Amino acid sequence: DDVVTRMKNVPLIELGKHRIKPWYFSPYPQELCALDCIYICEFCLKFRKSRKCLERHLSKCNLRNPPGNEIYRKGTISFFEIDGRKNKCYAQNLCLLAKLFLDHKTLYYDTDPFLFYVMTEFDNRGFHIVGYFSKEKESSEDYNVACILTLPPYQRMGYGKMLIEFSYELSKFEGKLGSPEKPLSDLGLLSYRSYWAQTILEILMNQETDGDTDRPQITINEICEMTSIKRDDVISTLRNLNLLNYYKHGQYIVCINKETIDQHKKSMEKRKLRIDPKFLHWTPKD
Ligand code: COA
Ligand code: NA
Repeated sequence: DDVVTRMKNVPLIELGKHRIKPWYFSPYPQELCALDCIYICEFCLKFRKSRKCLERHLSKCNLRNPPGNEIYRKGTISFFEIDGRKNKCYAQNLCLLAKLFLDHKTLYYDTDPFLFYVMTEFDNRGFHIVGYFSKEKESSEDYNVACILTLPPYQRMGYGKMLIEFSYELSKFEGKLGSPEKPLSDLGLLSYRSYWAQTILEILMNQETDGDTDRPQITINEICEMTSIKRDDVISTLRNLNLLNYYKHGQYIVCINKETIDQHKKSMEKRKLRIDPKFLHWTPKD
C-alpha cells in the first residue's frame, strides 16, 4: 500500500442509532478529529462536534431520506440515485463517511462525474442508510461500480451482494457489460467472487445439458449477455469453480457437475436478500 496512506484519525462516529469505530483515515476537519466522537446526521450526512449540535441540526434538517430520486423500493429496501454534481454537498459527505472504511481508493472531492446509489432500510423514523456504491457517469473501461460499501453494523448479512446485484441490474438495463473498478479490497473481492459464482451457477443449472455429457449448451458470451458480467470475470469465476475446460482451437467449454450444483443450492438457501428488477423504476441517462 501507498506510503502516504495516513493514520486512522477519527476514533468514533455516531450515525443514527449506531456508534461505529472507523477503520481508516478520512479527511474530516482536524478540530473534529481531536474529539472522542463525530456526530453525523444519518439523512444529510452533515457532521457536528457534539450530540447537542447534532440535535440542533436535526430540528432544522427536514430530510428523512437521502436526496435524489428513489428508483427502487420493495418492502423496506429502497435505492436512491444521487447526482454528484447536483447534490455535491451530500456526495462529498458520503465520500468522507465511506473513506472511514476504505483503505486504498482515492477519495473523489470532485464528485461531479459520479452517480451514487444509496440503499436504505425504512422504518417509522425514515429511510436509514445501509450502504451505497458509486458509479462513473461515463466509464471508458466498462466500470459499473467505483466504490462500494456496506456500513459495518449491516455487514455480513447479504446487503453487499444486494448492492452488487443492483449494480448489475442497472448494467442490464443499459445493455452493457460491467465490472467493478480495480483494485478491489479483500472483502470486495470475496463478495464479488461469491456473487459471480452464484449468478453464473444459477444460469448453468437451468440449462439443458448436452445429451450424455455434463456440458451445458451455453457459451461464455451468452453468460455475459444474460448477467452483464464482463467476460474476464466470467472466465475467472468458471476457472475458480473448476468448470472451465479448453476445447480445440483454444475454445472454452463450460461443464457442470452434481457436487457443484448441490453446493450452489445450499449456498442459495442462505441468500434471502434479492433485488427484484420489477421494482426498479429507472431509465439510463445519456
Ligand atoms: N470475512 C469473510 N467473508 C466475508 C466477510 C468477512 N469479514 N465479509 C463478507 N464476506 C463474504 C460473505 O461470507 C459473503 O459470501 P458468502 O455469501 O459466499 O458466504 C460475501 O462476502 C458477501 O457478503 P455480504 O454480507 O453480502 O457483504 P457485506 O454486506 O458484508 O459487504 C463489502 C461486503 C465488501 C461491501 C463490505 O465488506 C465493505 O463495505 N467493506 C469495506 C469497503 C470495501 O472494501 N469495499 C470494496 C472495495 S471498493
Ligand atoms: Na472511489
